[in-house]
Amino acid sequence: MMRATGLTKTFNPGTPIETRALRGLDLEIPQGQFVTVIGSNGAGKSTFLNAISGDLIVDEGRLEIAGRDVTRQNAWQRAGLVARVFQDPMAGTCEGLTIEENLALAMSRGQRRGFRAAANASERDFFRSKLATLKLGLENRLADRMGLLSGGQRQAVSLLMASLQPSQILLLDEHTAALDPRTAAFVLELTDSIVKEQQLTTLMVTHSMRQALDHGERTIMLHQGRVVLDVSGDERAHMDVPDLLAMFERVRGEAISDDALLLD
Ligand SMILES: Nc1ncnc2c1ncn2[C@@H]1O[C@H](COP(=O)(O)OP(=O)(O)OP(=O)(O)O)[C@@H](O)[C@H]1O
Ligand SMILES: [Mg+2]
Repeated sequence: MMRATGLTKTFNPGTPIETRALRGLDLEIPQGQFVTVIGSNGAGKSTFLNAISGDLIVDEGRLEIAGRDVTRQNAWQRAGLVARVFQDPMAGTCEGLTIEENLALAMSRGQRRGFRAAANASERDFFRSKLATLKLGLENRLADRMGLLSGGQRQAVSLLMASLQPSQILLLDEHTAALDPRTAAFVLELTDSIVKEQQLTTLMVTHSMRQALDHGERTIMLHQGRVVLDVSGDERAHMDVPDLLAMFERVRGEAISDDALLLD
């Protein structure tokens, strides 16, 4: 469960480049729900995910994860609650370390004894069996440096790493955007199966309306730092990309005229 209430974040306040990235964002996600997030460039999607992970602290509002108030906690304090995969395949893994070392680090995420890149024999067997589920042959490459893997392979391993330790919310920020269509489809399939198997509460940002409707069970749209559209259930099931696009245009138009009114 994740509950965001009235989140605001302004970058460079009081300067000519002031940006109100979050403007009173409210969203509640029940335990185990898979939500897809759309919205144009600059809508506040990554800022929202950074606020949930603790990579940035909001100016106002309240954030609860699994009933805990984490609003003022830093990323390290929340590490046991939040798992994350980034858009850039290079961002979520250490390219200088081996696959095994990366997995061992992921295993120690959020644990008291701190980060640890060494695996014992039973962990190594466990990693092999996990890697085998990816069907990429990586179970035989534990000692290879992460930097040797292709973008798609790295994103698959990143997903695996994100799911090695239990977490209360999984954040995916355009995690297939840098991949070719076939590899993206593979990583999305993998996402669906990991989310389903572990019943993870998930937020997945995508620029593809098709992906937004085809994955998860609820779709929200962010615009100017707020949730402007929230569809699920039957309404969503009967929706196609043009319907979503039309709604997008409508709420954008409304938001623009709202702003115009405010300026008047
Ligand atoms: N660290 C920062 N410093 C200053 N401004 C920032 C910072 N991070 C984000 N912004 C600004 O906040 C706004 C929201 O950015 P954000 O990255 O959340 O958008 P987004 O919805 O993820 O867009 P995209 O689809 O392009 O990834 C943008 O105007 C952006 O320039
Ligand atoms: Mg972004």
